[in-house]
Amino acid sequence: SLTTPKFSTSRHQIAGISVAELAKQYGTPLYVYDLNVIEQRIADLSQFDVIRYAQKACGNIAILDRMRRRDVVVDAVSCGEIQRALAAGYSPHDHQIVYTADIFDAAALDLVVEHKLHVNCGSPDMISQLGERLPGAEVTLRINPGFGHGHSQKTNTGGEQSKHGIWHTQIDDCLRRADQYGVTVTGLHMHIGSGTDLEHLSEVCEAMERVAMEVGRTITTISAGGGLPVPYSESESYVDLEKYFQLWDSTRNRLSESFGHPVTLEIEPGRYLSAESGFLVAEVRSVKKVGENLFVLLDAGFNDLARPVMYGSHHPISVCSSDGAAVEDRDTVEAVVGGPLCESGDIFTQREGGYVHSRALPMCRVGDFVILENAGAYGFVMASNYNSKTRAAEVLIEHGQAKLIRRRETFEDLIRCEIIPE
Ligand code: LLP
Repeated sequence: SLTTPKFSTSRHQIAGISVAELAKQYGTPLYVYDLNVIEQRIADLSQFDVIRYAQKACGNIAILDRMRRRDVVVDAVSCGEIQRALAAGYSPHDHQIVYTADIFDAAALDLVVEHKLHVNCGSPDMISQLGERLPGAEVTLRINPGFGHGHSQKTNTGGEQSKHGIWHTQIDDCLRRADQYGVTVTGLHMHIGSGTDLEHLSEVCEAMERVAMEVGRTITTISAGGGLPVPYSESESYVDLEKYFQLWDSTRNRLSESFGHPVTLEIEPGRYLSAESGFLVAEVRSVKKVGENLFVLLDAGFNDLARPVMYGSHHPISVCSSDGAAVEDRDTVEAVVGGPLCESGDIFTQREGGYVHSRALPMCRVGDFVILENAGAYGFVMASNYNSKTRAAEVLIEHGQAKLIRRRETFEDLIRCEIIPE
């Protein structure tokens, strides 16, 4: 099982390439992804029959293309994510793309019907809406087992407080509805949030088994959902993947035996595959004292990385000098690291419940680069144009070479959709 890495506050390279060089060539703020890390994470999960990447975590089509070439399939939660998958070369056939949501909007339903995509239904209404347009469809049901987990209330996706999935006592109704519309339930799925608690996991597996027995022999696939954690600090850890797999595998095996046919076991991680591959590189633009607080202000803000302001999430932070030299010999100071936006909450070192928290870092100077680590999941994809900031460029490092996979936005991009009426 993997051990939590040591996070250093000094870094001068990403995947063997100088941070200062990357910043010089592509500008800052800059998202940099290391493909080797993604490959390693895919390899960790090779015991599962199907790895389905939750592209919401990091959906650049170059990343999706590289996933596809490594036999990782995808989920899609919107019309746009279906189109991303198609643009990255995924086939609409063989469940390579599965639409997973709690509703269909009109455009998503049209696209699903056009390509006859497999659907993971998160509400009973989706069964009838799909059945009306595609009688004979096979579907997966996303079950809310009545409890959940998650690093924050906002990311807990099970239990009565969560809008997600089909409530576990309504399976009967759903099967009747499916029958009525000529739809067959061939898969079951549960995604209840992120957590390392394996005792909790055995409850999830029991719930899956119970529901699968209720649906019966039409089931050919079960999905463990996403939610595999990655450590964002030294006090956190990975899940014990061996135990995690064994619990799901034995659930699957019992179902195969009861049904008399093989049952495929899927996993649907987002964060696990992409978080640790990604780095947000920013430049220090001001170092100032405000009362007792030392503020280090970057050219990246919560418009680039929203997790700290949104969930109080911790991201490891490291520093690199402007000429690429090491910063290990500098004094360590307590610094509050923030961005350029017009809100006092634009702080990367905050925690849930308060925003001005400091971090022990090497003394920063204007022109240094600051690297927000583990930013490859829910980083760029949650970026916005708030304060009319253009979104950052993205670079992929592959075989020791940096490749631009998304150019920096321009002012023209910002106003492209806007109209001044006469
Ligand atoms: N499958 C489904 C149906 C999901 O809703 C999600 C995440 C995943 C898979 C992938 O979960 P993961 O393996 O990445 O934990 N923005 C938040 C996370 C929201 C996750 C929502 N659903 C964050 O930055 O932590």
